[in-house]
Amino acid sequence: MYINFWYPICTSEELDQQNPRRAELLGVRLVVFRDSGGNARVLSDTCIHRGGSLAKGKIIDDCVQCPYHGWEFDGDGQCTKIPPLGDKNPPARAKVDSYPVDEKYGVVFAFLGDLPEAERPPLYEVAELGKEGWQISGPVVLEVPTYFERSIENGLDPLHNEFVHPGQGAPRVESDQIEMQDAKWGSRFVSDFSNYTQAENRLKVADTSDTDTEGLRAGTWYHGPNTMVTEIHLPGNNSFIQHAYEAPISDTRTRIYLLSARNNTLGAENDQWIHDTYLKIAAEDVEILENLWPLRTPDTLNKELMTPGDAPVVRYREYLKDWENRGWRIDQKTMQQEYGDTAYAIPCPARRQSGNWVLDSVPLVGSG
Ligand code: FES
Ligand SMILES: [Fe+2]
Repeated sequence: MYINFWYPICTSEELDQQNPRRAELLGVRLVVFRDSGGNARVLSDTCIHRGGSLAKGKIIDDCVQCPYHGWEFDGDGQCTKIPPLGDKNPPARAKVDSYPVDEKYGVVFAFLGDLPEAERPPLYEVAELGKEGWQISGPVVLEVPTYFERSIENGLDPLHNEFVHPGQGAPRVESDQIEMQDAKWGSRFVSDFSNYTQAENRLKVADTSDTDTEGLRAGTWYHGPNTMVTEIHLPGNNSFIQHAYEAPISDTRTRIYLLSARNNTLGAENDQWIHDTYLKIAAEDVEILENLWPLRTPDTLNKELMTPGDAPVVRYREYLKDWENRGWRIDQKTMQQEYGDTAYAIPCPARRQSGNWVLDSVPLVGSG
């Protein structure tokens, strides 16, 4: 798991103005709440007094109040009130980490890391939003019992489709059809099936027949460690573009937020069957993913036998390595050893401006 990227925290719908909400990401606990201006705020959940869970408290005057002894923290993470101190200001150390938030597409995203704004990898934008002839549906949320890297790699894997999703009639991808293109925060590939005469295109949409493959192409890319986009262009200019924003809860669970764009079968009445189709495909994947061993991807490539068709997965791991080399990878082994003994916080941008924090920052690979 990696700090310094944007992560989905919850859906807008899940967050009301009455109660704070717990979110678990990257192996730590966060609290998310709405202030009176309607802005979502995301803080470290652990009260720095004696470990209360802020998410179990109340929202009072745009602050979240710890349920244990009533300390109040504003959206910037500053403690504004310690009841037994009366009118006295809380000490400078009375603060918790607070993270930049961007709420869009019906999802509350937070930047979980300490990079200053100018250096942050951007949140991946749904480019089709507001474009004429396109419709966005979702977010559809699902929680899967797998490590997020395994989930992303599965999405980047064109070789599994014919075996895991035979009902979708995905054509076989030959290794020479995979051409990787690198971008700053990820890479992509698109496979062209226009000349693939045996393709059984069973995804039924208007003007599509089972034998027509003109314009049939599909591709996938990732942006940062946890965002994946899959595009499927069917004959007749019928396109589906699926955006998966993944929230690693722990090293064994992942919460996935799906936003789907399409330029056909428009109308909200079609959302349900399209979501059902995506969830059916996801269930087929989960059956494989929850049985993978080891649970997490091995540290080196030679512990698995890669073939040319695994190129997108290999490239993904190279990008991950680059982010690890920047010092952004969480040291999960230390986190596991310390589980239950040490409360960590993902470092927030304010940690670069001031010291004197009560909680330790999560351990990072290569920094200790
Ligand atoms: S533990 Fe939060 S106020 Fe005491
Ligand atoms: Fe799949």
